[in-house]
Amino acid sequence: MTLLEAATAVRLRAYVPYSRFHVGAAIMSVEGRVHIGCNVENVAYPEGTCAEAGAIAAMIAAGDTRIAEMVVIADSPEPVPCCGGCRQKIAEFAAQDVKVTLCTTDGKSKTLTVAQLLPGVFSQAHMDRV
Ligand code: THU
Repeated sequence: MTLLEAATAVRLRAYVPYSRFHVGAAIMSVEGRVHIGCNVENVAYPEGTCAEAGAIAAMIAAGDTRIAEMVVIADSPEPVPCCGGCRQKIAEFAAQDVKVTLCTTDGKSKTLTVAQLLPGVFSQAHMDRV
């Protein structure tokens, strides 16, 4: 199963009674395993979680450590951009040159590196004086 197929399948399991916007994400870890996530909303809206965050949590829970590649898919007119918070979450576990492919259900896609997704990322180096 490709990463796109995995993201497409998990997207259908998104829990989205409030936005009705289903998002699926799949990660290939550097350890060589696929991890998936979908968005899970909550009646207390800020408590909802994005598909990307779910896939990262699944990767860490499975014992893998780093992202080698990632695919995100949603039913939107243009490839859905990850939210700001997810860009920072992805950057925590991926090298700057890792590719993140953003897809629509009707076949459009856009591939960005992590560096392009989050220029000027806040990193451990910024705390060097602590
Ligand atoms: N969402 C994601 O899961 N990933 C994205 O990249 C963009 C937004 C979710 C959050 C919320 O459940 C719904 O999409 C609408 O914002």
